[in-house]
Amino acid sequence: MVGTDINLAAKNLEEGKLVAIPTETVYGLAANAFNPTAVAQIYAVKNRPNFNPLIIHTNSLAKLQTWGLVLPQKMLSLASIFSPGPLTYVIPAGKQIPEIVTAGTQAVAVRIPNHPLTLTLLSKLDFPLAAPSANPSGFVSPTTAAHVQAQLGSNISYILDGGPCNVGVESTIISFLHDTPEILRYGAISLEQIQSIIGEVIDKPATSKQIITDNPVAPGQLAKHYATRHTLIHDNPTKHIQHYPQERIAIISFHNTYQQVPLNQHKILSPKADLAEAAQQLFAAMREIDTWDIDVILAEVFPDVGIGKAINDRLNRASNA
Ligand code: TXA
Ligand code: MG
Repeated sequence: MVGTDINLAAKNLEEGKLVAIPTETVYGLAANAFNPTAVAQIYAVKNRPNFNPLIIHTNSLAKLQTWGLVLPQKMLSLASIFSPGPLTYVIPAGKQIPEIVTAGTQAVAVRIPNHPLTLTLLSKLDFPLAAPSANPSGFVSPTTAAHVQAQLGSNISYILDGGPCNVGVESTIISFLHDTPEILRYGAISLEQIQSIIGEVIDKPATSKQIITDNPVAPGQLAKHYATRHTLIHDNPTKHIQHYPQERIAIISFHNTYQQVPLNQHKILSPKADLAEAAQQLFAAMREIDTWDIDVILAEVFPDVGIGKAINDRLNRASNA
């Protein structure tokens, strides 16, 4: 069922059921993080490898502390500016966080998402919500309730519909497990923004070339992420267009058009050349192209700054699927 009933969503979560929740980044597939049986359903429904831990979501730092988590000073500095928002903090897990949430890593990822419906929902709950993106493992994340319904609808008790996600790519992840904080995943909050507040930060999201599928350090950086049905080449399209019949090509571009390919086979993510808008459109464009009768997706390399790094990261991993 899809709707906007926050109380029904809360009731289902209290009963140990799965509910899809809107966030500003992507939709999450949520369960009571303190109920291991409920969390086990997330792994089952997503077909997610059991070594890949989950982010817990709540609406306040104070609640995290009441659940036994010790929040590092640099995390607090960032949170005062970026939370609620698209930034996830990996910190040591206290004893109260079930092992199924941390996948045995003794670290837990926490986030305060910035979406009005979900913040209201979270404020009604006395437990955090474990919530990965609401897609089958390895596929593109959902940015609308309809995307969730199409892939996982039959397995979810309720989909809370908060409209299309504003940011459109998953949160930036920063780890506080070592002396110097490390970026584990690119998102809307940039390395530069983070450094301007807490100083030195290690910039080392796993690239697709470095991926080891059983590596628990950055367990989510799996090779088969963001898979599209069609082959995706993440490179300057001009280099590849001549190798395919023009009617078999789809283009994902920032604002350019390629005259060798019909205009209706383009997904131009931001005609006005705005990277935030391009990020917001990216996953919906990838989903739509997957319904087209073509052979190959040629995706541009976006300007590698700010959220452009997150766009390039997702396209790069889609290209290795
Ligand atoms: O924007 C987001 O972060 C969305 C929304 C729903 O909040 N969630 C999301 O979750 O993208 P998921 O599970 O699709 O990706 C979470 C990433 C994975 O790469 C996972 O391996 C990593 O976070 N992660 C979770 N817990 C971790 C931990 N304890 N240590 C290191 N990485 C962790
Ligand atoms: Mg995901």
